Formats: sequence, C-alpha cells, structure tokens
Amino acid sequence: MSNTSDSALPADFVWGAATAAIQIEGATNEDGRGESVWDRFCATPGKVRNGDDPSIACDFYHRYRDDVALMRELGLDAFRFSIAWPRVFPEGRGRVNAAGLDFYDRLVDELLANDILPFATLFHWDTPQAIEARGGWPERATVDAFVDYTEAVALRLGDRVRHWITHNEPWVHAWVGHGWGVHAPGRKSESDALATAHHLLLSHGLAVEVLRRESQGAQVGITLNLDHVYPASPDEADADAARQVDGFNNRWFLDPIFRGSYPEDMLRLFGDNVPQGTESDMATISAPIDFVGVNNYTRSVVRADPDGGRPIFVRNPNGEYTDMDWEVAPEGLHDLLVRLSSDYEPRAIYVTENGAAYPDVRDHEGTIRDTERSAFLEAYIGAVERARTAGVPIKGYFVWSLLDNFEWAYGYWKRFGLVYVDFPTLERVPKESFSWYRDHIASRRERQRSTPAAP
Ligand code: GCO
Repeated sequence: MSNTSDSALPADFVWGAATAAIQIEGATNEDGRGESVWDRFCATPGKVRNGDDPSIACDFYHRYRDDVALMRELGLDAFRFSIAWPRVFPEGRGRVNAAGLDFYDRLVDELLANDILPFATLFHWDTPQAIEARGGWPERATVDAFVDYTEAVALRLGDRVRHWITHNEPWVHAWVGHGWGVHAPGRKSESDALATAHHLLLSHGLAVEVLRRESQGAQVGITLNLDHVYPASPDEADADAARQVDGFNNRWFLDPIFRGSYPEDMLRLFGDNVPQGTESDMATISAPIDFVGVNNYTRSVVRADPDGGRPIFVRNPNGEYTDMDWEVAPEGLHDLLVRLSSDYEPRAIYVTENGAAYPDVRDHEGTIRDTERSAFLEAYIGAVERARTAGVPIKGYFVWSLLDNFEWAYGYWKRFGLVYVDFPTLERVPKESFSWYRDHIASRRERQRSTPAAP
C-alpha cells in the first residue's frame, strides 16, 4: 500500500516518537512539584471523562529508564517530551525547585547515553495553577513568568538539549482551553482565547531570544497544529468558507511567526475581541526560527453555511475514521507540507506529531494486533516522504505517541501508543505497530546511509 520513494530521505532524517509531561509522567505530588491547571481541572467534577486524572498516568517519572530502553529497541533517533513548568517553578515564578529540574537532567542524560536526541518542548499546556490564579495566559505578566522559566530550564539543560520547541499547539491551548472551556483552565471567552494566543506567541518570541543566548547553537522552533482545509465544492462560497477556517486554524499563527502580522481577514472577523496594541510585539514574534513543528492528524473539508453562519465541517461518507472520529487523510498532510513550504518558506519542518487512536485490545495471547495503526502510519509516512521528494525541507517525523497516555478531556479512554499501557498495573506491552515502526526505521536507515545529508 505504500508508494514511498525509497531514496527521498536524507541521511540525517530523524525518526522519533512524541509525548507530553502531564500525559505520561504522573508523580504530580512528588519532589516539590506544584499544582498545574490540569490537576485542578481534573479535580473539577464533570470536566474529564470518568473523572480520570494525571496523578499516576504512565508513571514515566519513575519508569523513564525502562521506557528509554523501549525507545532504543524501537531504534528511535529522537524523543520529544515536554518539561512541566510546575516542577521547575511550583509557584509559577520566583523560587526554582532544583529537584524538578533534576528529573529532566536525568532523563536527558539517559537519552543521550542511548544515542537518542532529546527534543524538549517547554510548554505543553500545564500552566502552574499559581499563574492561573494571577490571571493566567490572558494576562501579559504571564509572558514574563514564562521567560523566567525558559531561562531556568535553558541554564540547566541548554548544554545538552540541541532541539527546543517553545510551545505546543498554541491554537488548542487558546481556543479549546480558553475559548470553549473543554480543556484546562476551562475558560469560555473569545477575548481570553485571543489574548492567550497573543501572549503565547509573544512568549515564544522572547523564549527564542533566551534560548539563542543560553543554549548556543541549538535549533529552536515552535509546534503548531495545522490541518489542510479543502472546500467541499468548487463554489466560491465554499472556497471562502475554507479560507476562513484556514485563517482561524492556520494563518492566525503562521502569519505572525513568518510575516510579523495577523491576517487582515481574520482581524476583521474577530473585531473588538482582538487585543489592542499588538503591532509592537510583532518583531519579537517573527524572530527567525530554525524549524517549525507540525502536528497533523487529519484534514478539514468545509462548506459555507447558506444562512450566513460559521463554515460547516463536512464528513466524508466514504471516509475512514479513527477512534477520535478524525478522518484518515494522508494526502492532507502532503498538501499541508507543500503549502507550508511554498507560502511560508520555513528553514526546516519536523512533523512533531502524527498518529491515531484505535480501541486496542489485548487478545488471548496478550498481543495487540493494531493493523489499522500500522496502515495509518505507513500511509502518512508515505505522504511525508512524497512531500520531501517534492522539495519540502522535512527533517524528521515523530509518532504520537510512544505510550498510551492521558488524552486530556478523554482521560485514559483514547489509546494512541505504539506501546500499550495496562493502566491498573502500568505494564507496557509493545503493540504490533511498534514492530512495524521499528522495521520501517531500520529499513529507511539502511537507505538513508547512501543519501547525502540535507543542506
Ligand atoms: C494535541 C497534543 C497531544 C494529543 C494528541 C492527540 O495534539 O492535542 O499535542 O497532546 O494527545 O494530539 O490528540
């Protein structure tokens, strides 16, 4: 089923897997970690399915050595993880908790000892609750607190971490967490969402400056969740609807980062809810970055609402959908990468997340035969390899996720891992897709050896 081009990938192409602190670590009350907005949100009845919480999760905090051994077995070049701000600053700012940094120090050393590159994300949505209590991301002061946090992390790990991601999916944190209240901190305000988006962007730009200074020579980027948006028909009205969804999901973040301005059409649409006086921050936000990280799982197909309302998302009657009800659409990733490259000309792109949830079960032999997941990965990796052949500067691919984990408001219900986690016992069982990915990496590496490294 794969129509990948064998020789497309350069020798230094990175094969990885991705995770996030609150989704895997557990140990939320250990070694001086402070409370995060996700701990608080999960403790609020009705917010997270089944009342699940991240207090144990995969217990990666204690089992990271075993999990790094699994990564090695998989043949990973790189591991993407995030650092928990409340481990480093339990009160959000002020006092550094050295024990919190020690954990990441141990993790980074363990990865390097196993020849695995650490890709560290500074923020994957676990704001210290103390920061939220002082107004959270809609407040500009949170930007300064984030810069202090970045500095503390970079001073400790900046000599060994060579790849930094400032933020993960600012769109999700802004809209799902602050606009619609489905994620922590559970706010429901369009102006809070837009202020959050702006402060995430500004803090990204300032964090880039800190990382350039304290982690010299490292590659620095940001990870965005991007979907290619297709109009449901050739009608002009549907094309406009697609443009609007693209503006909302993609351009609102891409334009400031790569062009130093918010898109005009979206400024008009958001009107008074856009924070004032953002122009003077744009030079900081658009500071050159070394790569952009792309998280992609599906595509969007939209049509115009005949009654003039918001664009309507269309379901593909012949489509295949994952357990998240996301359409399997590898061509969407290909088209997205080609468009990103031609419209914004990033220096490099990493696919920092791609993968699928399926309702995995262990059969009577204890095996997890997740053939859909292997097929999904094969098709999507094929799309990445075709985009590379078309000249897109893609430098790596990370599967979401290494382990089944805490899937936000869905709790432990949605399984994305290459490794099955039996949550009551925390036992790890590599799924069949683990073997598929291991074999894929091994076969690609063989061929990559004969291809020159990218410039
Ligand atoms: C996100 C996050 C991940 C998710 C994954 C599956 O994209 O929401 O980066 O933390 O778990 O995407 O939904």
